[in-house]
Amino acid sequence: MKPVKLGLLGLGTVGSGTANVLKRNSDEITRRAGRGIEIVAAAGKNLDSHQCRDVTGMRLTEDAFSVVNDPQVEVVVELIGGTTLARELVLAAIDQGKHVVTANKALIALHGNEIFTRAQEKGVIVAFEAAVAGGIPIIKAIREGLAGNRINWVAGIINGTGNFILTEMRDKGRDFQDVLAEAQRLGYAEADPTFDVEGIDAAHKLTILASIAFGIPLQFDRVHTEGITGITREDVAYANELGYRIKHLGIARRTEQGIELRVHPTFIPERRLIANVDGVMNAVLVSADAVGPTLYYGAGAGSEPTGSAVVADIVDVVRAMTTDPENRVPHLAFQADTLADTTI
Ligand code: HSE
Repeated sequence: MKPVKLGLLGLGTVGSGTANVLKRNSDEITRRAGRGIEIVAAAGKNLDSHQCRDVTGMRLTEDAFSVVNDPQVEVVVELIGGTTLARELVLAAIDQGKHVVTANKALIALHGNEIFTRAQEKGVIVAFEAAVAGGIPIIKAIREGLAGNRINWVAGIINGTGNFILTEMRDKGRDFQDVLAEAQRLGYAEADPTFDVEGIDAAHKLTILASIAFGIPLQFDRVHTEGITGITREDVAYANELGYRIKHLGIARRTEQGIELRVHPTFIPERRLIANVDGVMNAVLVSADAVGPTLYYGAGAGSEPTGSAVVADIVDVVRAMTTDPENRVPHLAFQADTLADTTI
């Protein structure tokens, strides 16, 4: 069988991580996908300085639409971030019957309802594992691994940059801005780092997690959102003295009134597992009726950890491409059980 042809949009931190993982592990990936996978075209800015180690054999361009419109491209991998151009590109791909893989949490949280509706009409898949908690396969864990459960609550550290800042402030007494600058250099932070430190990025991710866990529509505007900008070194040191850690959590909880969604800094007793999740690592706790509590841990940001999740979605999509669309497992796209307004 001929290899599946990908069009890659974005050659930044995640785009380069994805291309490098696809190349390095191509034997394993081909075996698992059942077909070879080839990037035939890639769009990026500043093409002379991009971070991909090997881009031989693919067409490079600064025109992302030319990649989407390329007749060879069967799957569009959107890794440019932002919501305006990304939305147009993703909808254009769907309209052409092309499957989409994206790491873009803002896009899914804000425009996911529109995107998934369009994808369902066109019979294409939109996969977004990399949008939440970097390399941790948390979407698949909740949607597939816990498919038999009624979920009570989901709570986690879901912004790597924020956790890195809080950890460095506590362990090394470092200054907030200094650590943030390092997170930017390491490729952890968003293009606009206020998204990380004001809790917006975590709220995007919580919106997505809640829709998967509780079968509700994506409702970003219902998330109570606080960031970490008000936390000082003294706060972190006092918490330590009292036997607590300050962690920035996203929490989605079933209540009698509906689903409660909130993102804010929290005092956690230091003996708890989640209090000891440090640096760029993320952790998500899920409490569900049949299985009880489960915990998922891993790198929440970074080039190859996020690339790992993107590639996992590409493999899923390639497998699904060989399945009759009528019988395709619907779990690769978001499906809300309830379109009623069920958040509080
Ligand atoms: N800026 C995000 C974070 C990247 O720090 O978690 C991964 O989504």
